[in-house]
Amino acid sequence: MAKVEFRHVVKRFGDVEVIPDLSLTIEDGEFVALLGPSGCGKSTSLFMLAGIYLPSGGELLFDGCIVNEVEAKDRNVGIVFQSYALYPHMTVRDNVLFPLRFKRMPREEVLGRVIRAANLVQVEELLDRRPSELSGGQQQRVALARALVKEPQLLLLDEPLSNLDATLRLTMRTEIKSLQKKLGVTTVLVTHDQIEATTMADRIICMRAGRIEQIGTPDDLYRRPESLFIASFIGSPPINTISGEARDGVMCAGAVGFPFEGAPGAVTVGLRPELLRFTGSGLSGRIAQMEPMGREILYVVDTDLGYLRVLEHGSVAAHAVGEPVSIGFSPDDSLVFDTASERLITTARVGPPA
Ligand SMILES: Nc1ncnc2c1ncn2[C@@H]1O[C@H](COP(=O)(O)OP(=O)(O)OP(=O)(O)O)[C@@H](O)[C@H]1O
Ligand SMILES: [Mg+2]
Repeated sequence: MAKVEFRHVVKRFGDVEVIPDLSLTIEDGEFVALLGPSGCGKSTSLFMLAGIYLPSGGELLFDGCIVNEVEAKDRNVGIVFQSYALYPHMTVRDNVLFPLRFKRMPREEVLGRVIRAANLVQVEELLDRRPSELSGGQQQRVALARALVKEPQLLLLDEPLSNLDATLRLTMRTEIKSLQKKLGVTTVLVTHDQIEATTMADRIICMRAGRIEQIGTPDDLYRRPESLFIASFIGSPPINTISGEARDGVMCAGAVGFPFEGAPGAVTVGLRPELLRFTGSGLSGRIAQMEPMGREILYVVDTDLGYLRVLEHGSVAAHAVGEPVSIGFSPDDSLVFDTASERLITTARVGPPA
């Protein structure tokens, strides 16, 4: 297995610099997710690891050796693309076997490996079928088997679950995660789905416009987002934000004053819906919408500061649309950002209005 490093890697397409300066280390056996909005450079970074794109600058290392000039077929990397890209005219067996076609390897070894890879993802029964005779989930497994057949030192997954329905996605998430742990193969998952990233990866690399915005465990990103961008990107339903002006122990937002601790200035407060609750006092409003979500209920509350989302546990609604409510929260659950820089101010706190 391999330790992977980007050292000041640059990628340009013509005049357009898509990755300005990327430095990153992925440990041997680690499962990381590259997470970020569409167009931020996730696939480009992955394709450089695969050897499909050549970096325009900087160095790419596998186990300490520079691989910039090493061809894709010599990198021992397995890749699953967003569209599984199975060859329609070939059987599953030939599809899985495909990456080994130029390897000098005895026929029995090749067939043995195909069976092992097929077994890992439970498609051994399907080896004689063609892709058109498979369901989406089965095609996805075959694509995984094809990526694993070389027994790669690095597994690259580019949005591998995006073509699956919600239930199957859940199953495959668990399966890929346990397969990765079992094989111990260094794995990079590209996704724009924060839930996929937080449930599968050991560590998340959050990208924005070709740069790393924050690296951390799923818990780090949720609890200590370094920027408003991360706070808004991680968490579901999304975080609420209130902008105001802080001075003399009070943050004023519209006509509402919130107790404030920290340095004066323009701030934006992030409040997670699941950390808000209905209390006797606090920010007042009226329930505008109620969305049952199984074991939780999402309330949308119309306040003087706009709509706020409040998530409550339980499957029975305790509040009705139109009901007046007050929203409370613990100051320790408030995330305060500098409005101009959008960076987290770790020393600042905001409490609910009295
Ligand atoms: N071959 C290419 N030629 C020119 N520009 C490209 C090429 N590939 C990617 N780009 C540009 O580079 C930027 C990053 O693209 P990339 O495919 O890496 O994004 P992504 O994060 O994978 O997005 P998505 O979630 O939509 O797949 C985009 O602005 C894209 O238009
Ligand atoms: Mg992409």
